Amino acid sequence: MGKRFVIYTYGCQMNRYDTETITGLLEQEGYERCEDPAGADLVLLNTCSIREKAEQKVFSQLGRLSQLKRARPGLKIGVCGCFATREGEGISRRQPAVDLVFGTQNITKLPELLGGLAGGRVVDVAAVEPDFTELAPIRREGSLSAWVSVARGCDNFCTFCVVPYTRGPEWSKPSRLIVEEVEAAVREGFREVTLLGQNVNSYGRKSPGELTFGGLLRRLDRVEGLERIRFMTSHPKDCDADMVGAMAESPKVCEHLHLPVQSGSDAVLRRMERGYTAEEYLSKAALFREQVPGGVLTSDVIVGFPGETERDFEGTLRVLEEARFDSIFMFKYSPRPGTPAFSMPERVPEEAAAERFEEAARLQRRVTEELHRALEGHVVEVMVEGPIPESPSPCEGCPAAPPGEAAPPKRFAGRSRGSHRVQFVSEGLPPRPGDLVDVRILRGGLHALGGIWPPSALLMEESAS
Ligand code: 5AD
Ligand code: SF4
Repeated sequence: MGKRFVIYTYGCQMNRYDTETITGLLEQEGYERCEDPAGADLVLLNTCSIREKAEQKVFSQLGRLSQLKRARPGLKIGVCGCFATREGEGISRRQPAVDLVFGTQNITKLPELLGGLAGGRVVDVAAVEPDFTELAPIRREGSLSAWVSVARGCDNFCTFCVVPYTRGPEWSKPSRLIVEEVEAAVREGFREVTLLGQNVNSYGRKSPGELTFGGLLRRLDRVEGLERIRFMTSHPKDCDADMVGAMAESPKVCEHLHLPVQSGSDAVLRRMERGYTAEEYLSKAALFREQVPGGVLTSDVIVGFPGETERDFEGTLRVLEEARFDSIFMFKYSPRPGTPAFSMPERVPEEAAAERFEEAARLQRRVTEELHRALEGHVVEVMVEGPIPESPSPCEGCPAAPPGEAAPPKRFAGRSRGSHRVQFVSEGLPPRPGDLVDVRILRGGLHALGGIWPPSALLMEESAS
């Protein structure tokens, strides 16, 4: 029997994409992926470092795996991802059961590193330029939406963030390879791609003669068989008319922009070294709304950055109110050793940060609910993911399926172009995963929209009664 491996993935989409590449590489080496570490020859942790909590999870998981290894000494334990890159040797010093540590920039060397394990522990977290001469093998998860990394690393050095240290400098993948990768995904049956990068919209800036990000969107819009293009994450300072114009012009590019603001205070934004003011941010948001009708804007917000005063925080509340984000990811500032903000004075006490978090979350929940409710009555295009399992006992008033006959599924889930989760009742033939259907929204909730397909079904019912 071939060797088996388990991989646990923490953190962002980029890590999940890396896991797909690692899986592709290991399959090429004759490994088979499995879910149970008790039956595995190799267990990998693809780690995250963005906040302290993410790092704590790694050692608790390693503790459990080291016990497993005591019972099965042949088991190899590997750690990769951002935390591995940061800590290198330090991980195996703290947890001697670890056999292999490799960094985010050393993934394609994995076959070679595994070969070295016969001679003892292997650590490789060296910073290297990515090899963009050909595509690495990849085993994609899911079947509808594929991740495609367009750039690696980050040159921005926002003062709170570890990413430039864990993923190295920014490199754009040549557009020729991106097109090839997207076309290959479409041939495999994927209908949607999400372009990934720490800062996608500075794409190509360091590569003379390369397309701009807007140019890349326009080029991918021509890929036949592809239905939808998404991307993340964009930086406000690189959000320009070329990019927004490409979103407006390219029918396959979804009307969703994730544009992290981080704070609404100019003083805090300056200390974060984000490179824009709150006003400048809001004018980019306005450009997006103006050029992309029905555009959905989402964001990331940090509360409790060192030195953040009540007044600074009020600036953040003001931006939430004015930008009217569809939803946000909100974080309490987490001090990361090695970053400039770590040694900034005036840390905000945990209690004040928690209160600000709650207050901003309350405001945002109200805005989200208002925006979602405003979609009631509208028709949105949904890419069907699949049926929602029916509860085993039909609710009162629902017709039960005749005995011996399974009722066809009636409720389905999918995603709108604006990235909303949509659950809908199908009044026609059951749609299949990947179908694009027009759903009339009947209820806009905080976390999902509820509706009916086809959109005319309800009108027909209404006129019949
Ligand atoms: N503390 C809290 N949030 C952080 N983020 C990045 N670094 C930190 C940190 N040290 C958040 C930012 C970023 C998102 C991916 O994670 O909002 O946009
Ligand atoms: Fe981190 Fe800033 Fe780079 Fe985003 S742009 S990855 S927040 S340094």
